[in-house]
Amino acid sequence: MTRAAVILAAGMGTRMKSATPKVMHKVAHLPILGHVIAAARGAGVERIVVVTSPDGAMVREFAATEGADTVVQDRQLGTGHAAASAAPALADFDGEVVICYGDMPLMTAKTLEASFAARAKASLAIVAFHSNSTAYGRVIAGKDGLLDRIVEYRDANDDERKVDLCNAGIMAADAKSFFRWAAKLENDNTQKEYYLTDVPKFAKADGQGCAIAVADEGEMMGVNSRAELALAEAAMQMRLRAAALNVGVGMLAPDTVFLSHDTVLEADAQIGPYVVFGPGVLVRGGAEIKSHCVLEGAEVKAGAIVGPHARLRPGAVIGEGAHIGNFVEVKNSKVGKGSKANHLAYLGDATVGEGANIGAGTITCNYDGFDKHRTEIGDGAFIGSNTSLVAPVKVGEGANTGAGSVITKDVAAGALSVERSEQREIAGWAAKFRARKKAAKGK
Ligand code: UD1
Ligand code: CA
Repeated sequence: MTRAAVILAAGMGTRMKSATPKVMHKVAHLPILGHVIAAARGAGVERIVVVTSPDGAMVREFAATEGADTVVQDRQLGTGHAAASAAPALADFDGEVVICYGDMPLMTAKTLEASFAARAKASLAIVAFHSNSTAYGRVIAGKDGLLDRIVEYRDANDDERKVDLCNAGIMAADAKSFFRWAAKLENDNTQKEYYLTDVPKFAKADGQGCAIAVADEGEMMGVNSRAELALAEAAMQMRLRAAALNVGVGMLAPDTVFLSHDTVLEADAQIGPYVVFGPGVLVRGGAEIKSHCVLEGAEVKAGAIVGPHARLRPGAVIGEGAHIGNFVEVKNSKVGKGSKANHLAYLGDATVGEGANIGAGTITCNYDGFDKHRTEIGDGAFIGSNTSLVAPVKVGEGANTGAGSVITKDVAAGALSVERSEQREIAGWAAKFRARKKAAKGK
């Protein structure tokens, strides 16, 4: 059966105190909504409809880039009303649908899959978890193990409040039946809202039961405030680190390593303490990232050593066995196999061949205030310390540049290029100078 998901994301998220809609705040460098969409895709969902508020343009834009459809819920009249507002977008859809919230970044594909699987027992299924928090609706099960009813905490009596089985807000059903039931919802409760949790009542009236899939509380956290966002980030980091260790990545102090949702670390990559990964990083097996490095949009090949204290920016590709040492920044540059830039250098918009040596303090002057220009450094070239390479410029294969040179013209293969004024020496000058100073001060 084909699968669809309706993701509710019309909430204002006022407690975030932010101009950015709540579901667009990032966890591990991906908007919260992106995590939910990824979970849905992981559960085999083909069509996604995100329910947004009228001022949710940013949410709609992001959903579109993720291949999801969107609808606008004009007024926020409750979770049931929000789910029902997706009906026109799925009018032609004949499979099963899962309803879930857009602000639950930790929810996994496995849990959505479990909600679909529970439909083997009844036409409708919800996901529940164990908690004593007063924030959640209580799930009251019947003797047959199927759902009797869901009661919002504020609407519940004392006995119902004692139940620790809570409603996650995830509901799976045959789409046509679901939207038929959702259209019948009424708002006769303390909040005067259309509750998604009343859908099972209408299913029951049709002779259809509701199964309960129980999931881990750790996945059910919704993000409503900056503090909760930080908690979700911490939980996600723990999950990403555990996954990396599990594939065979070496980490001396995993708690100090910060990963992006898309970081790819191969088995036998070694990551030191306090390393921060931005989006789009690939570290091959046998490469080592030493402590205090920041990487983003970069690839580090086998046997390469990066850091300590190095920064790799988008487009940095560090070749096999290459070394990028302390206080070296690499941007949009390829560093060939076995080449070394061990200390204090900036390589921007450069191509460095194999086996080259980039001396301490080397700077590629790639920007003229308007345009960026490339620097090419050939195989086996030796760039003396403190060389400024004023791009566009090429240093040929096996060429040397003298320390301190400002290289503005191409250097031929095998040549030495020095740009430096002649060194003068005045014999005895320093000794005379000191004697003169001491005499003047009477010492
Ligand atoms: C809901 C459930 C509760 C459950 C809890 C789990 C109902 C009536 N209650 O309560 O049983 O334990 O979630 O977290 O369903 N939204 C819209 N449009 C609306 C209203 C809400 O898109 O008109 C979205 C919100 O953006 C949010 C989600 O739906 O992401 C949940 O809404 P919220 O008002 O937070 O529901 P709760 O009261 O927490
Ligand atoms: Ca909520």
